[in-house]
Amino acid sequence: GSYEHILTSTPKPGVGLITINRPKALNALCSPLFVELNEALSKYDNDKEIGAIIITGSEKAFAAGADIKEMAPLSFAAAYNDNFIAPWSHLANTIRKPVIAAVAGHALGGGCELALMCDILYCTANANFGQPEIKLGTIPGGGGSQRLTRLIGKSKAMELILTGKNFSGKDAGEWGVAAQVVDGGKDEVLEVALKTAETIAGYSRVATVAAKEVVNKSQELSLKEGVDYERRLFHALFGSKDQTIGMTAFAEKKKPEWSNE
Ligand code: HXC
Repeated sequence: GSYEHILTSTPKPGVGLITINRPKALNALCSPLFVELNEALSKYDNDKEIGAIIITGSEKAFAAGADIKEMAPLSFAAAYNDNFIAPWSHLANTIRKPVIAAVAGHALGGGCELALMCDILYCTANANFGQPEIKLGTIPGGGGSQRLTRLIGKSKAMELILTGKNFSGKDAGEWGVAAQVVDGGKDEVLEVALKTAETIAGYSRVATVAAKEVVNKSQELSLKEGVDYERRLFHALFGSKDQTIGMTAFAEKKKPEWSNE
């Protein structure tokens, strides 16, 4: 489809790329943009050809947050009754294929939260992360207080969220927020994301979706429950064709031809 605020393409076999493209507002995530983002995500999630999805922005901004001008006039009743930003849960709650964030420039407020919702985060060293909502008289609303705290611990998260102080891509790497910090700019970080996405898309869809599901369970469950959950799904994968294909190919020293079943 054609969108107003995002671009979509398949730059490599099996890889769906979504580029946030609202340059006039530094990719601020207005509600219509999020509707488009969700539509594109679901389209790739439901597309058998696609094995991994990348979300990126521009050199200057991954996304400078939710749209402050859109939020400014909202009342509690309007926000509550319309369940404002409910669409923001779609990515974390519904999308089953791996999603990679390739972050350059600003990733602030909702932009930081969107990046944190992705399964793997890559960024440039000078990417600019932060939860500056406190400066606007409010708090994170896209999961930042929960996801950032789980990633970097309470004291650091408290400091960032209470002061609105930003942190760099380099910090993100050192703190384990980013899987890798990439030298260079947007093109370089996107290149790293594309390589990983292509690798993931080269595996069985059944296995990659299951792998994402079990890792995500570790964020929700106790260790015992999580390990039990993993065990059940591990057992279940013996019912997949691709388990037979993968293990037989190894034994025969061949490259597996996945059935995605
Ligand atoms: C709406 C935004 C915006 C935003 C930037 N713009 N961020 N519009 N919402 N979040 C607009 C500016 O108004 C300006 O429009 C244009 O983009 C360029 O921005 P400048 O400020 O001129 O650019 P610069 O001087 O380079 O500064 C960049 C910046 C600054 C440091 C990123 O724009 C900034 O502080 N933005 C707000 C960051 C923020 O507070 N984000 C959190 C939002 S709250 P004009 O028309 O003037 O050219 C949030 C809540 C999440 O995200 C909870 C819900 C999920």
